[in-house]
Amino acid sequence: MSKLPPKSLGSPPPTILVIFGASGDLTARKLAPAIFNLSEDNLLPQNCFLIGVGRAELTDNQFRNYLKDSLKKYSRRKVSDEIWKTLEAKMHFHSGSYDDLEAFISLEKKILSMEDALGQNAQCLFYISTPPSVFESILVNLGESGLAKRHQFTDCASKVIIEKPFGKDLESAKRLNEVINHRFDESQVFRIDHYLGKETVQSLLVQRFSNSIFEPIWNRNYVSCVQITVSEDLGVGSRGGYYDKSGALRDMMQNHVMQLLALTAMEPPSSLDAEAIRDEKVKALKAIRQIDVNGENAEVVRGVYEEGLVAGEKAKGYLEEEGIPEDSITETYAALCLNIENWRWKGVPFYLRSGKRLAHKASEIAVQFKRPPGILFGQDDRFSLAPNLLVIRIQPNEGITLYLNSKTPGLETKLQPIQLSFGYETTFGSNTPEAYERLILDALNGDGTLFIRGDEAEISWRLLTPVLDFWNEQGSRDLEKYASGTWGPIAAEKMLLARGHEWITGKDYK
Ligand code: BG6
Repeated sequence: MSKLPPKSLGSPPPTILVIFGASGDLTARKLAPAIFNLSEDNLLPQNCFLIGVGRAELTDNQFRNYLKDSLKKYSRRKVSDEIWKTLEAKMHFHSGSYDDLEAFISLEKKILSMEDALGQNAQCLFYISTPPSVFESILVNLGESGLAKRHQFTDCASKVIIEKPFGKDLESAKRLNEVINHRFDESQVFRIDHYLGKETVQSLLVQRFSNSIFEPIWNRNYVSCVQITVSEDLGVGSRGGYYDKSGALRDMMQNHVMQLLALTAMEPPSSLDAEAIRDEKVKALKAIRQIDVNGENAEVVRGVYEEGLVAGEKAKGYLEEEGIPEDSITETYAALCLNIENWRWKGVPFYLRSGKRLAHKASEIAVQFKRPPGILFGQDDRFSLAPNLLVIRIQPNEGITLYLNSKTPGLETKLQPIQLSFGYETTFGSNTPEAYERLILDALNGDGTLFIRGDEAEISWRLLTPVLDFWNEQGSRDLEKYASGTWGPIAAEKMLLARGHEWITGKDYK
């Protein structure tokens, strides 16, 4: 958004970034590289310190070495020894248990002594990157120790970033919001959905609202259906322990896929401010009709992968994966048909699907327009006249393609679909910042536009919790198996066919 860069590139005050779960995977893969790359781009405040907090007994030096190794493995830019030397002096480790108030009180002392050395106030950005089981202890202790309310309502007010999963159903999400709101003002809270940090997702709003050709046709008069696919070819890998308690609906649908839906369906906001955008997203989510979970017209499908071939390699089934109980009934695939009951979208189905071990990795939004009347063309062409299609590729091969019908050269009038394509990499080059760089930078600057507001998280859970409850009652009854490397359960194909549509991604339109 043209307005966002200046906002995010503001000048945040001196900052102490405190990461809970600092010796974990997310810190190594995403957070440390993001912080390093922000520093390389001179986007961090001049005085910026990092304190890693964790239960491990690490010295500062051990922690620094851990981060250095992580950067070598995962950073998009190489780290020179020279730069590393200037950075490492600002990195510390604080060892302690998350349910021990004393550990937070001693953390506060460390923060105070850093401020003393600086001779000015600093904002604390608390990044909770731990398993969800300790979220509450950390939030409570940030409150009890006074860390949450440091310099409140000034530029240096504390901020808290919370990783997903944000609850596991409506009740737990409400409870988590209560715990947060009791200790922090909503302006201090940044609930992460890393999809919102992806360049292509941010670009979606710009494409919709800075091009006048889309708005007149972005509605039920012209759109026949919208399809959102977030598919992965990988299985659960080493994350079986977490995944089996989560499943596709909680892990992907409730957050990433619903966010893509909200951005596609929302009305134009009154400005690009965080609240204006989030208000419109909330309105769109609120307008979704309760999902029909059962019966002939059921609007949900779930599945679990069995063994199969992915990109020519043999892949094992979900139940054979590490850490998965043999009687597991967790879904690795979910598809929904949602109906948005508002003036713009009434009657236009939004088909959503997400799954692991599918044919390939693709995050795409496909807007399929109504089929044109074929009256002008010969019998054959009348039936092959394809509906126009706008495909927004979030990843990989980021870009946009518009599918139109054209005449093939020659004396006969023969029709053929053609593509108008834009690719990010061809146009802008490949050195795009990672989602976490953008999100950490925005949080440092107090800009909540790309974060989930508490009510947004609850609305999404309100919609999906009845689906989870129904599946729970059903046991394994409607859990359909699909072979790894395919596009998922047959029931998901049938759900669309029954409504006169077909899934687009993965079909021959490519
Ligand atoms: C995470 C999920 O939020 O997103 C993972 O927990 C999933 O299961 C990942 O693999 C996908 O993210 P991306 O950015 O690779 O599409």
